[in-house]
Amino acid sequence: MKTKKHGAIVLSNMDEKRINEEFNRYFKSHPLPDDEILHNLGLFLCSKDLSRILFFYEIYKQIVHSHGIIVEFGVRWGQTLSIMAALRGMLEPFNRHRKIVGFDTFEGFKGIGSKDGKSCKCKDGSFSVPYGYEVYLDKILSFQEKLNPMSHLKRYELSKGDATRTVPAYFKKHPETIISLAIFDFDIYAPTKAALSAIKPNLCKGSILVFDELCDDIFPGETIALKEVLGLNNLKVQRFPMTSRLSYIQIR
Ligand SMILES: C[S@@+](CC[C@H](N)C(=O)[O-])C[C@H]1O[C@@H](n2cnc3c(N)ncnc32)[C@H](O)[C@@H]1O
Repeated sequence: MKTKKHGAIVLSNMDEKRINEEFNRYFKSHPLPDDEILHNLGLFLCSKDLSRILFFYEIYKQIVHSHGIIVEFGVRWGQTLSIMAALRGMLEPFNRHRKIVGFDTFEGFKGIGSKDGKSCKCKDGSFSVPYGYEVYLDKILSFQEKLNPMSHLKRYELSKGDATRTVPAYFKKHPETIISLAIFDFDIYAPTKAALSAIKPNLCKGSILVFDELCDDIFPGETIALKEVLGLNNLKVQRFPMTSRLSYIQIR
């Protein structure tokens, strides 16, 4: 089944799709007063979406004792970046070095090629967001920071453009960077390989790399990029039972 939104395959069956559509209708016609909506979003979280948030909570707990920044490669609507900012506010509100940096074209996939196979049915431009969305996301991330201590310091950055150029440029401009956590969610080979290659000199023992598509036959490019840049043989690819697609590696 393909979703209307981004043209990629989704694995829900027809019943799930129907219930999701009805759930969505109820969400849109909710009777909650305006000033209570944001504080009751759990009402609409299903186990799949909640498990993703809990995965990042478990991962964040593992990095609180390691120095360095958090990067996300493939941001789209920015939910994960926003969750990381909230977790930083909860778990280490005074860590001024824990910058959160997100990379995306904000125009969808760029650079899909033969190593990405044919199953995903995506093309360049899939997963795009409305024009100028990064300005909206920037504001959301600034609200997250303003609701937490040290709000006078901006500790996030969004980098717009093709990651094969923007990621190497970022690390050239910031040679002081140490990666504590890198989240890979470009889905496709070319930007994943470019980002892995660019961050490699900035990894240290304890750095964690999270992947959304390892061992995934719909998006083979992510695993191929990892094999080519770090090799698989010395890596332990771990997961939590609650999420199916997310996995992580800790550099040892
Ligand atoms: C699956 S989405 C990311 C979802 C997001 N991590 C989340 O948790 O909701 C993949 C993203 O990768 C981005 N992307 C793909 N190719 C890219 C490239 N060459 N440079 C920058 N971003 C790219 C797309 O624009 C898209 O937003």
